[in-house]
Amino acid sequence: MAGSSTPSSLMAASLFAATLLLSLHPSNAQLTADFYSTTCPSVSSIVQTVIQEALQSDPRITASLLRLHFHDCFVDGCDGSLLLDNSPSIKSEKDAAPNFKSARGFDVVDQIKAAIESACPGTVSCADILALAAQASVYLSGGPYWTVLLGRRDSLTANQAGANTSIPSPFDSYNNLVSKFSAVGLDITDLVTLSGAHTFGRAQCKSFSPRLYNFTTNGGPDPTISPWYLTTLRKLCPQNGDSSVLADLDPTTPNLFDNHYYSNLQRNDGLLQSDQELYSTASAATISIVNSFSFDQSAFFKSFARSIVNMGNISPLTGSNGEIRCNCRKVNWS
Ligand code: HEM
Repeated sequence: MAGSSTPSSLMAASLFAATLLLSLHPSNAQLTADFYSTTCPSVSSIVQTVIQEALQSDPRITASLLRLHFHDCFVDGCDGSLLLDNSPSIKSEKDAAPNFKSARGFDVVDQIKAAIESACPGTVSCADILALAAQASVYLSGGPYWTVLLGRRDSLTANQAGANTSIPSPFDSYNNLVSKFSAVGLDITDLVTLSGAHTFGRAQCKSFSPRLYNFTTNGGPDPTISPWYLTTLRKLCPQNGDSSVLADLDPTTPNLFDNHYYSNLQRNDGLLQSDQELYSTASAATISIVNSFSFDQSAFFKSFARSIVNMGNISPLTGSNGEIRCNCRKVNWS
């Protein structure tokens, strides 16, 4: 009973609670909001300025940069490993299936890195640049603001095989999506929330055209695509057409970060199979989350801020692990 707890039993209980907390979040304890406040106070504004400039000629760049942070974090944690190019000692993650001819924005990351290196040489990691670029990109597209936790260091290696297995595929079943998120410590609220990033950006026909033709055993399309959307997508992606043609992930407001992704799912207008499954899988626990975000944009924004910080906390390298790369494309002294 609470009233009869002895000081030693209270101490034991709080020690247990502290240990539990530490074991749930073993690696993010060292990330902090003010990590560069004395060593590179202008880092956030440099990132934002370069992205704003890039947006002038590429309205898609914010979406592409947000995706890089995701593809970095899901493979051995947020450690900049995605940014390493091929070399005699590196098999680049850029050549893994989810990234090859798909992940983009690496030149803008280089520009950000160059601008930061001239202001604060050898200080800011490439992994932190991806986290900051994700935040600036969402904010500049009309989405929420959040405080980015910083202090990640950069990997000395890449993991191409890991990129092939850990990054979710648009053809994954609902259960596979849930388990790939759970493998990195993210739950179904994180899954539904972070999938809301498909409120902007583009996907190639190859990422969804299997849904349009011969999807069911009797040769029909995916029954969870609305008739209007099916006609539109079949025109854009004819059978045996160019599989790299681009479709907007959100057909209503393609460049805006808003909650339309969720109302699209409610109308059966989700572009990827993995999107629509969150709403159309019978009795899935994700359905009610989709409904609540579709109804309330500010609930989605709050949740996005929370979930992306959770994602950014996946196994960072801190302290004296890894390094601060001078060039995001290669390890130092290579
Ligand atoms: C839930 C599992 C997910 C799957 C299966 C998935 C899959 C995909 C695919 C297939 C594309 C299009 C690639 C192409 O056709 O070239 C895409 C684009 C995109 N994804 Fe995801 N994604 C997922 C989750 C996420 C998350 C968690 C984020 C970020 C928080 C994200 C952000 C984006 C963005 C912004 C784009 C557009 C990029 C651009 O236009 O360059 N995705 N995703």
